Amino acid sequence: MKSVVEALLLQTLDTLKQQGVLAEDVNPRIVLQNTKDKSHGDFACNIAMMLAKPAGMNPRDLAERITSTMPSDPRISNTQIAGPGFINFFVNNSWLEEQVSKALSAPNLGINTVTDNDVQTVVIDYSSPNLAKEMHVGHLRSSIIGDAVVRALEFQGHQVIRQNHVGDWGTQFGMLLAYMEEQQNNDEDLDLADLEGFYRASKQRFDESEKFANRARELVVALQSGDDYCNKLWQEFNSISLQHCLAIYKRLGVSLTAKDVRGESTYNKDLQSIVDALADAKLLVESNGAQCVFMDEFKNKEGETLPIIVQKSGGGFLYATSDLAAVRYRAQQLKADRVLYFVDQRQALHFNQVFALAHKAGFANDTISLEHMGFGTMNGADGKPFKTRSGDTVKLVDLLDEAEERAIALVRSKNPDMDTASLEKIGKSVGIAAVKYADLSKDRARDYIFNFEQMLSFEGNTAPYLMYAYTRVASIFDKAGLDMNTINGDITLASEKEKDLANKLLQFPEILDRLTRRGQPHTLCSYIYEVAGLFSSFYEHCPILAADTEAEKQSRLCLAALAGKTIKQGLNLLGINTLERM
Ligand code: ARG
Repeated sequence: MKSVVEALLLQTLDTLKQQGVLAEDVNPRIVLQNTKDKSHGDFACNIAMMLAKPAGMNPRDLAERITSTMPSDPRISNTQIAGPGFINFFVNNSWLEEQVSKALSAPNLGINTVTDNDVQTVVIDYSSPNLAKEMHVGHLRSSIIGDAVVRALEFQGHQVIRQNHVGDWGTQFGMLLAYMEEQQNNDEDLDLADLEGFYRASKQRFDESEKFANRARELVVALQSGDDYCNKLWQEFNSISLQHCLAIYKRLGVSLTAKDVRGESTYNKDLQSIVDALADAKLLVESNGAQCVFMDEFKNKEGETLPIIVQKSGGGFLYATSDLAAVRYRAQQLKADRVLYFVDQRQALHFNQVFALAHKAGFANDTISLEHMGFGTMNGADGKPFKTRSGDTVKLVDLLDEAEERAIALVRSKNPDMDTASLEKIGKSVGIAAVKYADLSKDRARDYIFNFEQMLSFEGNTAPYLMYAYTRVASIFDKAGLDMNTINGDITLASEKEKDLANKLLQFPEILDRLTRRGQPHTLCSYIYEVAGLFSSFYEHCPILAADTEAEKQSRLCLAALAGKTIKQGLNLLGINTLERM
């Protein structure tokens, strides 16, 4: 609703500019306050006080002028001028009632699915781990933040193309293939169950044996020149490594599947043509034998222009080259309107360079929006990147195991009599949800401190709190023997608590818009948390099953259902499943 009033005010200020009341160049930030005392309206705005002086008017007179100029709108029932010149807005209660009743019975909670004209093709590059190693905690962020944005865009009706740009190419594969070969030659079973261990062992062989290292280098060259034998080994390795990832996605409830994988290696065949195209466009410069592009907008601290290296002196291509090829593919073949990259913030320069060059070289035209949705680091209690005690990176599987174990213990402590099967089931969902939610609820651009106790708390903005809030709504319907998903009817908003909740529930579409535009799931988290809080105080003050009249009971049930469905839908969009009891 705030955005409605803001839009009306903006429109009014424009009219006043045309009338010469306000100067053309005043563009104030419109701030709407939620009023404490609702007899003074729902929102208050101090815009007239801000603009009075430059307009040479008394604030109350200007407020008067604003309200008389403002177009009437069915959503606002009244405006009033208060104190030194505040404008108070009263939301039209019957409009509000109508909207919440409609949202409850509409499919998708009344979220306007985008019209055909507005449907965008959005390519989302996320998760994208390196297959040479096991997924570690750093991949958690990309996988779950990306997936939440994917779900929200799809819910709005956009066409989403998932791209898991896995690192399946590079010199480390020579070492891995050499180790595979050695194990096979020794008739040992290929042990890739512990990929991390396998990587470490092959690295050790590489460092200790010159012969092994030479073989590794030979194998890279052979792999690059398309040798069948190498290719088979490489495929075998990647397919096992990918199974590890898929198992994690399944466990995390991340919607990526095998068919979304389009790794770096798929662009190998395009890399030469990328370099050729840059040469044709006269953008290439040779520097120390390497082929580079220099763009003025990228300078280091000393003011020197930074190169974008696309081909090494030995002829090898680089990370940037395959990303350029990927941009071209996404723009020209996939016909993307937007491409969103959920990749560590530390790669910001890389993406800025790649995007700028892709536009300049015409790999992507100017209408396509390339957006790096960078994220910060997940830190341990010491504020440094999360590591094991021995200083190794934490494997994602180990982290998830621990989360599940802790959550099972927590659920057990709350329900000492629960049977083991339910305990396991509920504990596992709570554990995974807690890890995901703790991450998703933080502004992605910032670093955050990973903390099991906090994320598993039943208080505050956490998954357990919200999942529990949902079970409270569910239990009302359980008691009443009604189905939350099918109930509908007229909603009457008599008390402030009901109005507050209704107002909040109607913000869902706006929140989703913001989420998908900015790629920031934490806005949705805060929103669900607010809904849960407002529901709680509504529930406390407005008896539902024990309401005074049948009509009141029905109305409150409907409002509770909309709250329950909103919490559930919101959590689902974050990739978190609700439970009926816990
Ligand atoms: N594999 C890379 C890494 O783990 C991330 C790839 C991100 N996507 C991209 N198109 N560069 O750092």
